Amino acid sequence: MARIFDAVNAVANEIIKQKDYLTSLDKAIADGDHGINMARGFTNIQDKITTIENPTTKNVLAFMGHTMLSTVGGAAGPLYGTGMTAAAEACPENASMTPEVVYSLMTAAIEAIKKRGRSKQGDKTMLDVLIPVAECFSPENADGKSVNQCLDAALKAAKNGVIYTTTIPARKGKATYIGDASIGHEDPGAVSAMIMVKALADFLRR
Ligand SMILES: Nc1ncnc2c1ncn2[C@@H]1O[C@H](COP(=O)(O)OP(=O)(O)OP(=O)(O)O)[C@@H](O)[C@H]1O
Ligand SMILES: [Mg+2]
Repeated sequence: MARIFDAVNAVANEIIKQKDYLTSLDKAIADGDHGINMARGFTNIQDKITTIENPTTKNVLAFMGHTMLSTVGGAAGPLYGTGMTAAAEACPENASMTPEVVYSLMTAAIEAIKKRGRSKQGDKTMLDVLIPVAECFSPENADGKSVNQCLDAALKAAKNGVIYTTTIPARKGKATYIGDASIGHEDPGAVSAMIMVKALADFLRR
């Protein structure tokens, strides 16, 4: 099986494994469906991924984005789907994964999520992890580093991003209903983003 299938499966397995945890985080500040939504999306991805005929990074990202958008309800699934779709569009045909390419794909994803979610860094969302993670691959920060070395920094940035979300109130989504009572809690979407980064980093280190 193509290595890219194994990488996606590693991420999917970890999200599915953390389903109840993600749901409990969402229950604490909102409606308690984040784990269910994310596990549904990644189960659908796993079910159909091997049917992709020409599994380039671009095609796999496009398939993932389409699956998240068409099979997951709520906010986060469609936002991740929008990000993956934008990353696929920005991805060169047969791209090899250099820090430069990762940075351009992540930047495209982040811009699309910001636009669709009308959100920004500091709103207590997935962006509070995705933006600092992307920065680890920027030309200034990735100079002379391999993707794996950037991923080490990215994992630290992701963990710090999750911690940052505990210090601020939610400014987007259902968690805004409880106002400042959301301070002290991790944002579920920030945690799912961190889980994906960690799963990918662990997979590439194997
Ligand atoms: N406008 C937004 N921009 C970016 N991320 C967002 C936005 N709204 C919500 N999120 C992310 O989605 C997560 C919640 O996703 P979930 O799968 O629970 O969908 P949901 O219940 O419809 O979300 P919500 O109640 O936040 O609208 C949040 O923790 C946050 O990280
Ligand atoms: Mg929810």
